[in-house]
Amino acid sequence: MAIHKSTPTSGSIGDADLVSLSYVSELIHPLETLELMQLVDLAIARNASLNITGVLSCESNRFSQIIEGPAGAIELLWNSIKKDERHCNIFSLGLKKIKQRSFANWSMRLIDGKQIAAFDPKLKGPIAK
Ligand SMILES: Cc1cc2nc3c(=O)[nH]c(=O)nc-3n(C[C@H](O)[C@H](O)[C@H](O)COP(=O)(O)O)c2cc1C
Repeated sequence: MAIHKSTPTSGSIGDADLVSLSYVSELIHPLETLELMQLVDLAIARNASLNITGVLSCESNRFSQIIEGPAGAIELLWNSIKKDERHCNIFSLGLKKIKQRSFANWSMRLIDGKQIAAFDPKLKGPIAK
């Protein structure tokens, strides 16, 4: 008798095992607008290839970011971000499992500090040292 394997008929491939990670960090040196734009452009390109979406803010010497995507991809990106020499005092506010993305249309988007805190109020607090 032939064995038929069932194939998924709904949901997006690569969106199983979704997690979201928020963190804050401090800039080591202020960034020129162009440098910030370049950082975001590269993030958009790499995130698209990793099926990652999210938002970033850069205000008052502080980065806040939320990234979401498959757990393995987030771990890979998080390891890159943690060793990036443009920032320090990198403090994770936690990794959580999510059922759906909040930023499905944005591989990465620069928004202001108030907007990002509206998505995750923990991003408002002081950076723990
Ligand atoms: C605050 C901050 C946020 C970043 N966000 C992203 C991001 O969302 N996606 C990304 O690919 N790189 C991001 N980067 C750049 C990464 O840290 C890293 O330079 C880049 O992914 C290349 O990684 P690699 O050096 O491990 O190849 C960010 C860097 C900083 C300082």
